[in-house]
Amino acid sequence: MNLAVMGMQFGDEGKGKIVDYLAERFDIIARYCGGSNAGHTVVWHGKKFKLHLVPSGVLRGKIGVLGNGMVIDLEVLKKELEELKDEGIEPRIVISSRAHVVTPLHREMDALEDKIRNIGTTKRGIGPTYETKVKRIGIRIIDLFNREELKKKLRLISRFWNMDVRDDEIERVSRMLHSLAMEFRNSVEDVEIWLQKAISSGKSVLFEGAQGAMLDVDFGTYPFVTSSNTNSLGIFSGLGLPPKLLDKVMGVSKAYTTRVGEGPFPTELKGKMAEELREKGHEYGATTGRPRRVGWLDLPILRYATLLNGIEEVALTKVDVLQGLKEIPVAVKYRCGNEIKEYPPPLLNKCEPIYEYLDGWDSLEDEAFKRYLEFIEKNVGVKIRIVSYGAEREETLEL
Ligand code: IMP
Repeated sequence: MNLAVMGMQFGDEGKGKIVDYLAERFDIIARYCGGSNAGHTVVWHGKKFKLHLVPSGVLRGKIGVLGNGMVIDLEVLKKELEELKDEGIEPRIVISSRAHVVTPLHREMDALEDKIRNIGTTKRGIGPTYETKVKRIGIRIIDLFNREELKKKLRLISRFWNMDVRDDEIERVSRMLHSLAMEFRNSVEDVEIWLQKAISSGKSVLFEGAQGAMLDVDFGTYPFVTSSNTNSLGIFSGLGLPPKLLDKVMGVSKAYTTRVGEGPFPTELKGKMAEELREKGHEYGATTGRPRRVGWLDLPILRYATLLNGIEEVALTKVDVLQGLKEIPVAVKYRCGNEIKEYPPPLLNKCEPIYEYLDGWDSLEDEAFKRYLEFIEKNVGVKIRIVSYGAEREETLEL
């Protein structure tokens, strides 16, 4: 059985923890989109691991795959693996020969571009690397092994972007990338073939989503999105797999909503309540440390994520953060001008949430908590299978 675990909101839903929790049941954990913009936090025996590129499941001793749909910063990957090694964890990873590479030029371009259009990107070079990919001037992992060709490619990018990068800088960057690639050469595979062979031989795969449904370049709150298909449709192009190999999709949602960066957020809270939730939920970005924007649960967003991804089951995270509130507003629909909408429309900034107010709870045994879960299930059309009430593996209920 191959399972996908997908973020249903704006990223940071707690996928890292859920993937880590479920990983035991799978042989391979594969990522297919994004890069080091992702920040998956996994807590294990009180120790916090922040993973950006390495799939979260490797903490369970599983093989971690980085698919062609990802954009890979080998400097970050190396650092991450060194940090894991310091903790005694030396995972087996497999990197797609066709994945595109983030270079210092891409990171520089990300910072420059975002000053002009202000999406609030993570400045990890993600957008520019997807840009050079579709522009057909990108650098793939496989291209790093030929230094002369690599230099030509770096010069081409610098020309396209009018960057005027000096020759000694091209020399330095190409040497650095080439030597990193050499360090990783035993991990590089044609993943589309490697993975299908593994599946044919009976191995099971967990597809680890990064970011969330509303950051998908096609279906998110464009232009305030990331540059890849973060939804389950991205799995197939991002790993080179046919859709029939995906058996089941689990969505991950917080019991409320958060967002980092700019863009529409209908249920956003301001003031004291926002601060309380932010502090209680430690809502600071895992990659950039930025305070996350916080708000109430938004069911039109969960409905849309369910529809786009084919979600049947949900893991609801951080329910402990809401505990102790008297009353909890939940957005059930939107009012967009004169229209009532059940799903987020392409111009979400024109919509106001319509709330229903549910009773709060003081413990997970309370009837009011059960009603909160049932309310979500009924309104979204999913089953809540996992409830997470803390960062540790043990703080998880399977229903
Ligand atoms: P980029 O992916 O760095 O280009 O950033 C685009 C938008 O997506 C920004 O608003 C980021 O804050 C957001 N973003 C990217 N990756 C993540 C993530 O893993 N979690 C939450 N937000 C993210």
